[in-house]
Amino acid sequence: MIVLGVETSCDETAAAIVAEHEGKLRVLAERVASQVELHARFGGVVPEIASRAHLEALPHLVKAVLDEAGIGGSELDEIAVTQGPGLVGALLVGTSFARAFGAAARVPVRPVHHLEAHLFAPLLAGKAIRYPMLTLLVSGGHTMLVVTHAPGEHEVLGQTLDDAAGECLDKAARVLGLGYPGGPAIARLAKEGDPARFALPRPMRDKGLDFSFSGLKTAIVHAWAASAKDEQAKKDLAAAVEAALVDVLVAKTMRALEVVRPAMLVAAGGVAANERLRRALAEAAQAKGVSLVLPPLRYCTDNAAMVAAAGIVRARAGLAIPADWDAAPRLALA
Ligand code: KG4
Ligand code: ZN
Repeated sequence: MIVLGVETSCDETAAAIVAEHEGKLRVLAERVASQVELHARFGGVVPEIASRAHLEALPHLVKAVLDEAGIGGSELDEIAVTQGPGLVGALLVGTSFARAFGAAARVPVRPVHHLEAHLFAPLLAGKAIRYPMLTLLVSGGHTMLVVTHAPGEHEVLGQTLDDAAGECLDKAARVLGLGYPGGPAIARLAKEGDPARFALPRPMRDKGLDFSFSGLKTAIVHAWAASAKDEQAKKDLAAAVEAALVDVLVAKTMRALEVVRPAMLVAAGGVAANERLRRALAEAAQAKGVSLVLPPLRYCTDNAAMVAAAGIVRARAGLAIPADWDAAPRLALA
């Protein structure tokens, strides 16, 4: 089957054409238009600006991926579009466009949960999904440990009680004057820093499977205020933030392995693009003898190929498209 994926939940507008043949997925064409520059001077995503930018970019991106894949709209088997969670205006642009396009081309439109799309990113690395799959899901707004038993059957083992790891990185970047988004900027600086210079807390590392990062956020603010605030302090604090987050995320993931014995372990979401986290997870998984899949970096951050992949998985599992659905800014995974 051939599916068009559409993603507009936050600040990336994305479209992709993904083909499935005997369970193997192939990305025929993909485009991501980042809005980072539009939002950077505000230090975060401005919802109204995001919606308008999606509206301008999406039709061009869809045309571009269809042209590149060499297919017409009516040759699509389905359109998969992010239903939520996300910014309501941004989601409405994607879902309205998908519906209008689907109606004109007579192609069914399937709503996809944004986090479920992140979970199925390994398929885009040519890996088959083996259940139960344990995923450390670390995106901009979510930090959770999820066990997937089947398409649409997810069990949340633990999640953050306050801020997400990604929010902590974005906050740290704002404090250090690095702008938005924080993750890549912190990672760049951290390479030249000494993580031991600042002693940052590891909230809840040794307790349960839930996360908490608000205390770490506060500690970062205080550490910076008490520092020399020079270039070296920036690098050292960035390294300390990265080390603290990685330490907690890896410890929790390893604890989850005491509760479930998964057929595969996965890290997904934007923060899973972090090299230090990827290295630490790979070492820890190897020590435990668990097979780990790390999707390529471009399929960790928001993209439409993962949305198409999730749509394909649902279709192949025989899950019906709901008769009545709408964009849903708050949408539970499990
Ligand atoms: O999954 P994602 O692209 O969007 C959401 O669904 O939220 O995740 C965005 C988050 C942001 O907090 C961003 O700072 C972080 O992922 N991020 C990274 C890296 N690239 C993006 N964090 C650490 N290292 C990176 N290389
Ligand atoms: Zn995401």
